[in-house]
Amino acid sequence: MEFTLVPRHLRGNGGQLLSSPIPPAFYGDRRLRRFQFSTFPKNSSSQIQNNLHSMSSSVLMPSSTRCEVSSASTFQEVSDLADINWDNIAFSPLPADFMYVAKSLEDGIFMKGELQRFGPIPMSPCAGILNYGQGLFEGMKAYRKADGSILLFRPEENALRMRIGAERMCMRAPTVEHFVDAVKQTVLANKRWVPPPGKGALYIRPLLMGSGPVLGLAPAPEYTFIIFASPVGNYFKEGLAPLNLIIDTEMHRAIPGGTGGIKAIGNYSPVLKAQAIAKNKGYSDVLYLDSVHKKYVEEVSSCNVFVVKDNIISTPEIKGTILPGITRKSVIEVARRQGFQVEERLVDVEELLSADEVFCTGTAVVVSPVGSITYLEKRVEYGNKGVGIVAQQLYSALTGIQTGLTKDTMGWTMVVD
Ligand SMILES: Cc1ncc(COP(=O)(O)O)c(C=O)c1O
Repeated sequence: MEFTLVPRHLRGNGGQLLSSPIPPAFYGDRRLRRFQFSTFPKNSSSQIQNNLHSMSSSVLMPSSTRCEVSSASTFQEVSDLADINWDNIAFSPLPADFMYVAKSLEDGIFMKGELQRFGPIPMSPCAGILNYGQGLFEGMKAYRKADGSILLFRPEENALRMRIGAERMCMRAPTVEHFVDAVKQTVLANKRWVPPPGKGALYIRPLLMGSGPVLGLAPAPEYTFIIFASPVGNYFKEGLAPLNLIIDTEMHRAIPGGTGGIKAIGNYSPVLKAQAIAKNKGYSDVLYLDSVHKKYVEEVSSCNVFVVKDNIISTPEIKGTILPGITRKSVIEVARRQGFQVEERLVDVEELLSADEVFCTGTAVVVSPVGSITYLEKRVEYGNKGVGIVAQQLYSALTGIQTGLTKDTMGWTMVVD
């Protein structure tokens, strides 16, 4: 099932956002700045733009601890880049200044959120997330174009995926409209952390968690939606060099009927052990097979996988145990537009080993070529040291759109500026 096929009732509740009861938060000994906006009417893009502009003017005042509407010169000043070495950013936390926080009411409607300075969040030890892992996350990127404007890539797809995940996990979720608006607010508030063109991206991490108290196993009575951001470079230490993957035949990422098809927080810590063993042996990451037949390719710990044979591109079909990646979906569309035959189907591990090319896709990894795969002690290497021509072509096409270097004829990018 593709995640755009969303039942209508999951798509939104009209975007009504009520006022927030979140207490003022503190970070260190400084009172945090809080930013509240008026209600969030449906289809009010111009009002959102106005809010965003005044917000961006007010929240970015350097070293001030108070929220004031600033002058144009302040806006100019705070639009500058953060003072870090942009040539040396990794895929590790370097939290940007502000995070967005919104909470649900008991009827499940999310209230209007606010921007707070990044920092610890108060949480009851009885919270559903802490006791029963009731949590989801998303991952997306914002790129800075040469003209200074900032682009998001298909943010509504992340919003929909979070809503589908929330339904599976009996959680309340923000509407698509609320989610996208919150992402834009977070990016604008942290604008100075969006790397210069060609130096990386601002990684945006929306989190949805059961924050209300539970004791017996039950859905939490209250949910918190948080978005934080961090500038990032390449996900793998290999950079753009081909990955060396190992197939784990003992440990599995997902089971039929489980939650492998959503971005549940609990899907990720179980793969840490397999990943650690693989990394200790010098591999970049682990490729998982299906847990029933142990012969069909599923995905890597945090990305989808594609194989190319005789110019036909194939990728495991989405059937509940594989995350429906937004990059996967976009790469399929781009490849088809370029005239490739793309098949979504069961991919036998033997096909993987005899492929001409293999590559991975994901927000974090973008399109990463695979140089070798090790399966049952046998290592298969791919031609041209793994830098396949199809992966290269798709990488260029996709990143061209994402970074604004090529015209977005797909309508996938959203300008935040
Ligand atoms: C398990 C898993 N598969 C695939 C992906 C790729 O998804 P996307 O392209 O939406 O980033 C991710 C990334 O979050 C992931 O965690």
